[in-house]
Amino acid sequence: MSEIFASGGVAVITGGASGIGRAAARRAAAMGMRLALVDVNADKLDQTAASLGEAIGRDSIVTSTADVADFAALQALAQTVETRWGSPSLLMNNAAAFVAGGPGGILDDNANWARVFAVNVLGVVNGVQAFLPGMLAAGKPAVIVNTGSKQGLTNPPGNPAYNTAKAAVNAYTQNLARDLRERENCAISAHLLIPGWTTTGEAEHRPGAWLPEQVVDYLEQQAKAERFFILCPDEETPNQVDHKRIFWNAMDIIENRPALSRWHPDYKDAFAAFMTRDLPVIPKG
Ligand SMILES: NC(=O)c1ccc[n+]([C@@H]2O[C@H](COP(=O)([O-])OP(=O)(O)OC[C@H]3O[C@@H](n4cnc5c(N)ncnc54)[C@H](O)[C@@H]3O)[C@@H](O)[C@H]2O)c1
Repeated sequence: MSEIFASGGVAVITGGASGIGRAAARRAAAMGMRLALVDVNADKLDQTAASLGEAIGRDSIVTSTADVADFAALQALAQTVETRWGSPSLLMNNAAAFVAGGPGGILDDNANWARVFAVNVLGVVNGVQAFLPGMLAAGKPAVIVNTGSKQGLTNPPGNPAYNTAKAAVNAYTQNLARDLRERENCAISAHLLIPGWTTTGEAEHRPGAWLPEQVVDYLEQQAKAERFFILCPDEETPNQVDHKRIFWNAMDIIENRPALSRWHPDYKDAFAAFMTRDLPVIPKG
């Protein structure tokens, strides 16, 4: 059983000063874990650490304003955490840039693409490479959660760089999970958190969205059930709808349809009709 939030453990959470990362930090603190929170937003990080420190004591929290794109900074943090508390029992690579949209169109400046990839893809890889060696050496059960996105599965129009980066996180995390399960005596599991529409940052909560705390509840429950893909619903999109969208996307390849046919005018009616039907039952094998 993969216990994400376990009393006495050590949680490292990137993007821990806001949204889903902050909600996870609160849950970890409530479980009596020690926390290393990474966030480039120094003000929000201070506020988060101050409020959590009231509950668990400021000595139980390490903060770092490291940019997750900076591998050396994450390695230095890993050293600090390991020296102080030992290797993490939870590593949550959750920070991302341009969550609410931003530059990253097909012809946008290469520098924008490079930044999106440096943070949203390499930030995750950096977190794993900085902390996993110590976690493996410790030989203890531990959990790695990487935050991907539905946008990396179904590629909706609007932000190709973000979508492409999240597709890479989704793929990377599957490779990570396979690597870990093939290691002898390794009790570290990896999970791909795929949030739905979640009210985060400074956004006003709107009907249809989930709160970050709901995402964290779902993460905890699904990880306990040993799920790798933690595909969150929200109040607007139940799992069944996502399953159909993902299935349709996979069928683009199998049926050799145009790329992202869901948004192709010639397939508009077929997609709408498909969404009204049940998915075929595929025998479990
Ligand atoms: N909110 C949603 O609807 C939604 C949906 C799908 C996926 N996600 C993913 O969930 C994760 C958390 O996002 P959120 O919605 O809680 O957003 P958020 O903006 O509330 O939190 C993200 C945090 O990451 C920090 N951050 C950004 N770049 C950083 C960097 N280079 N180094 C360190 N910290 C950095 C920000 O300062 C911020 O505090 C992200 O990976 C995001 O892509 C969010």
